[in-house]
Amino acid sequence: MQERLVIEAPAKINLTLNVLGKRNDGYHELETVMQQISLKDRITLCPGGEGIKVQSSSTAIPGDEANLAWQAARLMFEEFSIAAGLQIHIEKNIPVGAGLAGGSTDAAAVMKGIDRLWGLHLSPERMSALGLKLGSDVPFCLVGGTALARGRGEILTALPEGPRLEMVLVKPDFQLSTAEIYQNFRLGQVKSVPDNQAFLEAWRRCDIMALAAQMKNVLESVSIPRCPEVAVIKHKLEECGALASLMSGSGPSVVGLFGSREEARQAWEIMKDQYEESYLVSSYGRGD
Ligand code: C5P
Repeated sequence: MQERLVIEAPAKINLTLNVLGKRNDGYHELETVMQQISLKDRITLCPGGEGIKVQSSSTAIPGDEANLAWQAARLMFEEFSIAAGLQIHIEKNIPVGAGLAGGSTDAAAVMKGIDRLWGLHLSPERMSALGLKLGSDVPFCLVGGTALARGRGEILTALPEGPRLEMVLVKPDFQLSTAEIYQNFRLGQVKSVPDNQAFLEAWRRCDIMALAAQMKNVLESVSIPRCPEVAVIKHKLEECGALASLMSGSGPSVVGLFGSREEARQAWEIMKDQYEESYLVSSYGRGD
């Protein structure tokens, strides 16, 4: 048994997000393009000791059973009858409660780490089914890259390598509850819907202007009336030259897409003076 394993856990953004309707199980039927980005947590797993323990560089996340990384370890141990101790350390770089799947990516990393450390060799399908028990974004975080996601977010179609996206990510100084945003979603209040088919065609052609035109998130119809700051950030990013700006997931993080790394860097220089949690990021492929 290896003494310790370090795994990177990249954040996720949504390049498009459409809600098709509410399901009988209370979840919403989605059609969304998910993208891993270069902003990432670092998870260290050390087998041994008593029980499952979580430590983090951040005080913003729980160090107990409430942490999705802890739940991921318990799920794997129960499912595969592993009676062992595990120390989990989370170097937290992804903002919390931000719509960036920070908890889900940590959970996915723990699952991958346990699979490796205990030589389980689980199939991608099995990992995905287990991951979905922890959260709707976990199946995507297990595979990464860029994917069109349907269902709760777990029915994934991987997209081919596309253009490298240079972006600025801004997290305002408040958090939003995913459950609350979805609960208050009303189809009738949506003004602008992404055309995912047009996005996919633009993606294949690496046509950055055409894909920017489809970068829309219908959940903004819920979050912006509650938190007008989201609209303010979108506007500021556009003033800095963003080709598109949209909220990620259920927010409140906002992403601005730029034509080049240099343009993104210039925008980041401006935004970081106004918002402490501003990041210069790029899209992350499955091979990265
Ligand atoms: O799956 P997860 O625990 O991340 O979802 C958090 C909450 O977001 C759910 O309880 C649900 O209210 C909402 N949600 C939804 N439809 C989805 C994903 C999440 O309504 N497809």
